[in-house]
Amino acid sequence: MSNSLRVAIAGLGTVGAGTIEALTRHRDLIARRGGRAVDIVAVSAKNRSKDRGISLDGFDWYDDPVSMAREADVDVVLELIGGEDGPAKAVCEAAIESGSHVVTANKALLAMRGNALAAAAESAGVSLSYEAAIAGGIPIVKALREGLAGNAITHVYGILNGTCNYILTEMRENRLSYETVLADAQKLGYAEAEPSVDVDGIDAAHKLALLSSLAYGTKVNFTGVYTEGIRKVALEDIDYAEEFGFRIKLLGSARMTENGLEQRVYPCMVSQSASIAHVEGAYNAVVARGDFVDDTMYQGRGAGAGPTASAVVADIIDLARGSSMPTFGMPAGQLADAPVSPIERHRGAYYIRLMVKDQPGVIAEVTAVFRDEAVSIETMLQRARSQTQAVPVVLTTHECEEAAMRRTLDRIEALDSVVEQPTMIRIETLT
Ligand SMILES: NC(=O)c1ccc[n+]([C@@H]2O[C@H](COP(=O)([O-])OP(=O)(O)OC[C@H]3O[C@@H](n4cnc5c(N)ncnc54)[C@H](OP(=O)(O)O)[C@@H]3O)[C@@H](O)[C@H]2O)c1
Repeated sequence: MSNSLRVAIAGLGTVGAGTIEALTRHRDLIARRGGRAVDIVAVSAKNRSKDRGISLDGFDWYDDPVSMAREADVDVVLELIGGEDGPAKAVCEAAIESGSHVVTANKALLAMRGNALAAAAESAGVSLSYEAAIAGGIPIVKALREGLAGNAITHVYGILNGTCNYILTEMRENRLSYETVLADAQKLGYAEAEPSVDVDGIDAAHKLALLSSLAYGTKVNFTGVYTEGIRKVALEDIDYAEEFGFRIKLLGSARMTENGLEQRVYPCMVSQSASIAHVEGAYNAVVARGDFVDDTMYQGRGAGAGPTASAVVADIIDLARGSSMPTFGMPAGQLADAPVSPIERHRGAYYIRLMVKDQPGVIAEVTAVFRDEAVSIETMLQRARSQTQAVPVVLTTHECEEAAMRRTLDRIEALDSVVEQPTMIRIETLT
């Protein structure tokens, strides 16, 4: 066997410790698959004395991960610290400048700085690999960059955040409110104490920006992702969704349209007959549709030590084999600057829930607004009179442009008979 592949690891948390465990347990298997041994030679984290449940014996310790990336005599630096800036960015830049390949799990960093880092890696003749950054253990980067490379991708979408999918699943299965499930998830360690990056859809948007670039050969454009999270999803909407034959999922979806690149992350209703409707709990799934292959679907664990280590080690084995891919599937200079398709141009059907005063004439007032704005109602459901003053009116529309839907809702909200801000959830047609 030829010389071993020498690796330095910056960050020894969930992903870093998992990676050491996998590289240690499967040392022989990895060497056979990669054609040479993989040796960890240097590591860095914040707190040297922390018990990580793994042995660091035999590895050089660095207090400063950037010095490690510059000075350690290695072929590959793993950036497993996290964050869109700070030490993570500095580690990647230092490694590239020093001629080392970089493997990272950091979607925030790549979503914000992926274009510059990809160009720098290319100039330096090194790889920037990131399989663990999108949907954890699911090999979707490999699928898009290699397995589907002969297709024009026509749609890529998925459940990209396990925390949100877990919350929505628990709400539906156990009939619990968003707040109750989030609090339980925080106690169990499934959700962060400060959950906004997950529940506001930002983490899914980071991943979608990377998927779009891989799928459509465009520059990474995170600010072009229209993003809504799951905080406003109410239990009654989950119940009505079931009644209408849908399930609510936080989906990331990217399509190239005549208006430009459409990148969306929002909670939406998907048909219960769609495979993705049945991806539950903390699982992730990605569907990539190619013009020759049609739909391909990938499902698996999107987070945790095992799945992320699986992805990081796959990237390392590629490097051991001498296999190197352009970061986003083609040379950085060929990635296009696609215009952003604004959300107002989105076309689709909508679910609307209104709380209205229980009095004659209200339905006529509401439907008149829909008629005026040329938004056609498909189904309408009015619940029997309740003890309370307001009653729900729930409807779904035929496909229309979002700008028309928004105008309709603005006018409806202004009606005296409508007592709350209307709830609007998009219905996503996936076939
Ligand atoms: N966890 C997952 O399931 C998962 C899934 C996919 C992607 N990712 C991504 O993987 C990356 C790492 O996530 P993680 O969950 O492993 O994070 P983590 O458990 O919080 O670990 C972060 C590690 O970075 C070290 N660190 C922080 N600041 C540092 C500094 N200034 N210098 C040196 N080391 C520093 C920490 O040191 P100490 O241990 O000494 O504090 C810790 O070992 C992130 O980009 C994350 O988005 C994570």
